[in-house]
Amino acid sequence: MAREWDTPSEKENTKKKHPEKKRKPEIKIRTMEIEDIAPIFHLGEKLFTHDDAPNLYRTWDEYEVVEFFNSDSELCLVADDGTRIVGFVLATIIDKRRSAWKYGYLVWIAVDEAYRHRNIGTRLFKEFLSIMEEHRVRMLLVDIEAENDEARGFFARMGFNSPQDHIYLSLNLSTRDKKEN
Ligand SMILES: CC(C)(COP(=O)(O)OP(=O)(O)OC[C@H]1O[C@@H](n2cnc3c(N)ncnc32)[C@H](O)[C@@H]1OP(=O)(O)O)[C@@H](O)C(=O)NCCC(=O)NCCS
Repeated sequence: MAREWDTPSEKENTKKKHPEKKRKPEIKIRTMEIEDIAPIFHLGEKLFTHDDAPNLYRTWDEYEVVEFFNSDSELCLVADDGTRIVGFVLATIIDKRRSAWKYGYLVWIAVDEAYRHRNIGTRLFKEFLSIMEEHRVRMLLVDIEAENDEARGFFARMGFNSPQDHIYLSLNLSTRDKKEN
């Protein structure tokens, strides 16, 4: 509810006392649109570098974002502050053959570093969750690097309480071919 100021001078005094208290832009969570492809890619590019890839077998590039837009745009969300994209979720649904279960796979989630710890990740996740419920998804999956403490803390807070250890093994076939020749 808006407060009515008693006198104009009271309003002026408050402004002087708290000059830094500008209104923060309202952040809206909405589904991804075609214009969001480039901003999502550029935000992800700042966070998901090759050296610091948060999940193992997917790489961050413009094709990744376009693919999600083409296949699952209704499952993908952005946090929009009115002027730019400050966070996003890219996700898909997996149907397993001969299983009645549907799995919601949250592949990428990110919030611009300048906007972290302001509940934006939580709001993105909650919206994602309600979309998954509409699709009658029975289980949600995420995969993150073991050292990604902030994502671990975040997902624990979101209710992911049973981490399962997986070990990824790799075999570089190009070097093996050279050795055999
Ligand atoms: C994970 C991420 C999306 C969280 O976004 P966020 O907007 O800062 O999250 P919220 O403000 O909603 O935080 C909610 C809760 O998550 C937990 N959390 C968030 N950041 C954390 C951190 N650095 N360490 C531990 N817990 C953390 C806290 O419990 C937090 O609640 P609190 O603020 O009351 O302490 C953000 O840190 C990020 O973009 N990380 C880099 C990308 C990434 O690794 N994505 C995951 C793999 S794809």
